[in-house]
Amino acid sequence: MKKIILTGDRPTGRLHLGHYVGSLKRRVELQNSGEFDKVFIMIADAQALTDNADNPEKIRQNIIEVALDYLSCGLDPAKSTIFIQSQIAELCELTFYYMNLVTVSRLQRNPTVKAEIQMRNFETSIPVGFFTYPISQASDITAFKATTVPAGEDQEPMIEQTREIVRKFNSIYGETLVEPEILLPGNSACLRLPGTDGKAKMSKSLGNCIYLSDTEEEVRKKVMGMFTDPGHIKVEDPGKIEGNTVFTYLDAFCRPEHFAGYLPDYSGLDELKDHYRRGGLGDVKVKKFLNSILQEELEPIRQRRKEFEKDIPGVYNMLKEGTETARKVAARTLDEVRSAMKINYFDDHELIASQSDRFSR
Ligand code: TRP
Repeated sequence: MKKIILTGDRPTGRLHLGHYVGSLKRRVELQNSGEFDKVFIMIADAQALTDNADNPEKIRQNIIEVALDYLSCGLDPAKSTIFIQSQIAELCELTFYYMNLVTVSRLQRNPTVKAEIQMRNFETSIPVGFFTYPISQASDITAFKATTVPAGEDQEPMIEQTREIVRKFNSIYGETLVEPEILLPGNSACLRLPGTDGKAKMSKSLGNCIYLSDTEEEVRKKVMGMFTDPGHIKVEDPGKIEGNTVFTYLDAFCRPEHFAGYLPDYSGLDELKDHYRRGGLGDVKVKKFLNSILQEELEPIRQRRKEFEKDIPGVYNMLKEGTETARKVAARTLDEVRSAMKINYFDDHELIASQSDRFSR
C-alpha cells in the first residue's frame, strides 16, 4: 500500500513555535525522507470558519501567513502538495455522507471538541458546523487516502474518530477508505509546548506565543520575560525544573552541540538542571542560553520568509496549483465513495439495464 501523508492547520494566525516543534519541523523531515509516496498539506480555512463565521477576513488574511510559514520552514511545493481546504467542494460532499455514520453522543465524547467548547464558552450555543468538524476532518484525511497524519496529541481524538468512520463505511459499503494513523512528535517535550507564561498551550488569545515570523528582538524579549520558577528569587536559591517553561523549551530544542557553542562549562542538559536545582544558577543565564538556541533555529526560517515575501503572487499561484492537484485526488475518492454507496446512478450501466428489464417485463 502507498504511504500518504495528510495534515494541516487552521489559518487563524501566524504559526508559532508550538506548531513548529509539534508538527511543522517533523513534516519537513518526512517530506524529505523519501519514505512517502505523497504528501498533502492543507490550509484548513473551512474548519477555521466553523468558529469564526463572523470573521472571514481574519481567515482570509492568515492564509498567506500560514503559506509563508510553511515555505519558510522548508515545505517544498515540488515535494508536497499545499492546498486550501475550502476550494475542494468534494470534501463537503464526503462530510455529508459521513455524517450518517456518526452519532451525536459520539461527537459529544470527543475530548478535544469538549475542551474547545469550554474554552470558547459556547455551552449551549455551539454552531452545528463546529460541533461536527471532526467529521469534516475525517473527510480531509480519507479524501486523500492518507495513511499517516503527523500532528500533535490534541489531534488524537480526531484520528480515532476518522478510523471509526472508515471502519463503519467499509463495513457497510465495502472496502473503500483507508484507516489513517497519527504520527506524534518523538520528543515528549514537543507533545505540547507551553506558552511563554507557563500556561498549558501557546495560544494567540493568551498572548504567550513565539511566532516563527517574530524578529530577533521580539524573540529575545519573549524569552527574557518567560515564566520560570516563581520560588527561585535569588540566584543562590534552589530552583524547580518541573513546570519551569525555560527548561521545558530546552528539553524541546537543546542539542548536545549547543553546550559546546554557548555554555562550554556544562557537559549537557542534565548537569545544567542539577545546578539549577541545587541553587547558584540564575534565570538570566539559562534564558540567554535558550535565546541563542532559538535564534539559531529561527534565523534561517526568517531569512527564507523574507525571500518568499518578495513574490506574494507567486505564493498564491503555488497554492492554486496545489489546490488543483489535490482536487483531482479528492474527486477520484469521491467517485469511489459514490459507487460504493450505490449513488452513481448515471455511471451504472448495469442499473439502467436491469431497471429497463424490470419495466419491460
Ligand atoms: N484540526 C487541525 C488543527 O486544529 C487542522 C486540520 C484540519 C487537520 N483537517 C485536518 C489536521 C486533517 C490533520 C488532518 O490544527
